[in-house]
Amino acid sequence: MSNQASRLRALFARPGVIRLMGAHNALGAKMAERAGFDGVWSSSFELSASYGVPDAGLVTMTEQLAAAQSMSCAVSIPVVADCDTGYGDANNVVYMVRRFETAGIAAVCIEDKEFPKRNSFLPGAQELTAIPEFQEKIRAAKRTQRHPDFLVIARVEALIAGCGTAEALRRARAYAEAGADAVLVHSKEATLGELAEVARLWDQRAPLVAVPTTYAGVTVAELEALGIKMVIYANQGLRSALRAMEETYAEILRTGSTASVEGRIWPMEAVFEVQGALELRERGGPRELGRNGRDRKVPLGMSPGLLEPKA
Ligand code: SPV
Ligand code: MG
Repeated sequence: MSNQASRLRALFARPGVIRLMGAHNALGAKMAERAGFDGVWSSSFELSASYGVPDAGLVTMTEQLAAAQSMSCAVSIPVVADCDTGYGDANNVVYMVRRFETAGIAAVCIEDKEFPKRNSFLPGAQELTAIPEFQEKIRAAKRTQRHPDFLVIARVEALIAGCGTAEALRRARAYAEAGADAVLVHSKEATLGELAEVARLWDQRAPLVAVPTTYAGVTVAELEALGIKMVIYANQGLRSALRAMEETYAEILRTGSTASVEGRIWPMEAVFEVQGALELRERGGPRELGRNGRDRKVPLGMSPGLLEPKA
């Protein structure tokens, strides 16, 4: 239970930037791990999109917990759970920390917006929580955690709400003082401008976290130079998958077959490998082939031929 949290603590203690990739299910988390990311961001935006609904506090805590737990179960890198606003007040945060920590999640991240929150990049007003109220959530979270390595990340939405760098800094400091282990300062600018200003004036021990979605041209080296310790690529996995799906589906309808897309989509064997189907065989999973090859038991959706060892 404490394992992933301890791994994340160790990453914070080590020199260099920690890089997280966003995901919303175990397969996405495994892809992040295979690519070499240090951890997984269990994204409320991605999960909401996977349910086909806006990222606006609609997906419940239980649904977010199940997703984060399935990811944490599937990988050995730490999972940081995006817990939106903490699902209510400090009482909800207490329950949230109990559930997420018990599920093996390394860290939770809560943001200083009112429930139900709206995704930071949606047009329209963003309603911030009062500082003392949010500090109380952070204190409640820190009091509740059982293992000392579990982390609570506080997310500042002042720049998103258009309140400026002074307010962002004021909030970031207040959350660090309340015991946050790290502070995520979110920005929707196309450049580093505001975030760089906050980072330059940062005078607390708690490390800073950034989500370079809109300032996509900024490199990890530039963020590191500013003193940013953790960088979260929150949704590029989902967005790249959607683009690939859109192109593939259109091509199948246009050409009337899957022939032209086969060369660029993953072979079934590659999916088997990621989902651990090859391990099943090593443990003697599928039954022996019958004489006509038809009565072997194989998992649903797999043809016996595809399970044959490669020559
Ligand atoms: C998420 O990935 O759900 C986030 C980051 O909270 S953002 O979508 O940028 O708000
Ligand atoms: Mg989110």
